[in-house]
This record gives sequence, structure tokens and C-alpha cells, in this order.
Amino acid sequence: MTEPANRPEESGRRATIFAVTSGKGGVGKTSLSVNLACEFSRRGHRTIIVDTDLGLANAHILAGIRPTRTLSDYVEGKAELAEIVETGPCKVKFISGGSGVKAMANLDDNGRARICVAIEELTPFCDVVVLDTGAGVSKGVTDFVAMADQAIVVTTSNFAAIADAYGIVKVVVQDGYRNPIHCVVNRVRSPEEAEQVFLKLKGCTERFLGFDLNWLGLLPEDTSVEGAVLKRAPFSEVYPGSVAARYLAKLASSLEKHLGAPQPAAQVAKS
Ligand SMILES: Nc1ncnc2c1ncn2[C@@H]1O[C@H](COP(=O)(O)OP(=O)(O)O)[C@@H](O)[C@H]1O
Ligand SMILES: [Mg+2]
Repeated sequence: MTEPANRPEESGRRATIFAVTSGKGGVGKTSLSVNLACEFSRRGHRTIIVDTDLGLANAHILAGIRPTRTLSDYVEGKAELAEIVETGPCKVKFISGGSGVKAMANLDDNGRARICVAIEELTPFCDVVVLDTGAGVSKGVTDFVAMADQAIVVTTSNFAAIADAYGIVKVVVQDGYRNPIHCVVNRVRSPEEAEQVFLKLKGCTERFLGFDLNWLGLLPEDTSVEGAVLKRAPFSEVYPGSVAARYLAKLASSLEKHLGAPQPAAQVAKS
């Protein structure tokens, strides 16, 4: 991938921004974000992952990176954008949101707006930007979903996870988000289980929000995912033959259809 700001010639094409979100924590956002970014990169798309779980960023752990500088340094004016970009597995470029940094967790609207501008500045230099968001429905999450061309909402079959997935869709749709939102059902034991969860969620978004949620796919419960975390590496890299890696490839193939064409800016009408 062309180094942002190091080789500033523009590709002339704006990258597609994907935001991975969920409402509930611990459902697999970061794992999906890191592995999706790797899968895109393996397929030849210049990919950058930005860990927008500000203050509690942990995507670097799953990617096996030790970031020397983070968005925290950028926001404080201690580092330029190009200086906080690391290179991760599968040649994915990586920006960390800072871990255990209270100031980042409590960042105000201006600080987040600066980060959103920085993310936009990356887009001429790559094909895909993956934003790994934090949990919850606060502006610290929704500001990043709002700037995405495509949102991916992750849930498991856990009832609270489904309710929280509905919660984040509700908040962003009521804020005016009109770009596609795709659903991934994670940690399932069968395709039927995933379908049931999806239909439940889609039924709610249609009935109560008039919003048509897209089916993206499922990721199975797979010990390779946890095994890869222990190795501090993406599961699709260290266990490429795993069931999870096979399903991840299907997700990436579906999302690839949204790459390439210039994307309209996310339409967000703040109410
Ligand atoms: N498909 C899966 N199979 C098994 N374990 C999984 C799966 N997806 C996620 N996990 C595990 O769940 C935990 C939480 O995942 P993570 O990606 O950090 O969630 P989040 O970012 O939503 O908080 C991690 O330990 C991860 O390894
Ligand atoms: Mg996470």
C-alpha cells in the first residue's frame, strides 16, 4: 500500500470505509475487523484498519503489533498522521486508538471530529478502511459509524447481544444514517441458528425503524479464533484452513462487491 503522507501521490479513488460495530462488547468486532482487513489485503486491496475503540483499543493485540504511537499522540499534536501508521500482518496498515488512555476515552466532539478528518485524509491512499468501533451507542461509537460507507453490525445469538445490535442500528438510523448496514452473526453452531438471529433482528429494524438490514453472513464458533488470539495473530493468517477462515472469506467476497466504485458520502442528518 502507498504510505499515507510518505508518498502523497493520490490514487484518484476514494477508499470504501467499513465500520464494524455491535452495541454489546465482546461479540467479536475486533476479531472480525482485523481478519477482514487481512483478507482484503491478501486479495490485493490496500487496506488500513483504524482502531476507534478510543482509550480501550486492543486490535493491535489481535494483530500482533506494538504501536509506538497512536491516535492519542495525533490528537495531542505530538505526531503527524503518517507517523502513527504502523504496518501489520498481511501488509495491513494499522492505526491504534490508544490503550488505557483516559483522555481518549473522554474525547470531546472536536477531538473525534479531528479523528474523522484524519480518517478521510487516508482514503485517497487506500482501497479499504476498516474502523473497529468500541461497544455502546455513545457518540464515541456513532460518530465513526456515521462516516462509514458501509456499516457492519455484529451480534451473537445471545439475547442481550441481539437487543444491543438493534440498539446501535436504531441510534444511527434515527441520526440519519442511510448507507447499507450489514449483519454478521458470530459464534454460531449452525447456519440455521444464524438465520434465526438475523431474521429476528431484521424483523425489528423493519417494523420499528423502517430500515432494511442486509444479511452479510455468519462466523462459526471456532477454537481457532481464540487460539489465534493467544498467538497474537489473525486467525485467518495462522489457521487459514479453519472453518472460521472459510466463512470469513465468504464475508469478504460479499463485501468486495461494494469496493471500487466511488461511494457517496454517508448521509447524516443530525436531528
Ligand atoms: N467465532 C468465534 N469463535 C470463538 N471465539 C470467538 C469468535 N469470535 C470472537 N471470539 C472471541 O470472543 C472474544 C471477544 O472478541 P472481540 O473481537 O475482542 O470482541 P469485541 O471487539 O466485540 O469486544 C475474544 O476472546 C475472541 O477470541
Ligand atoms: Mg473490540
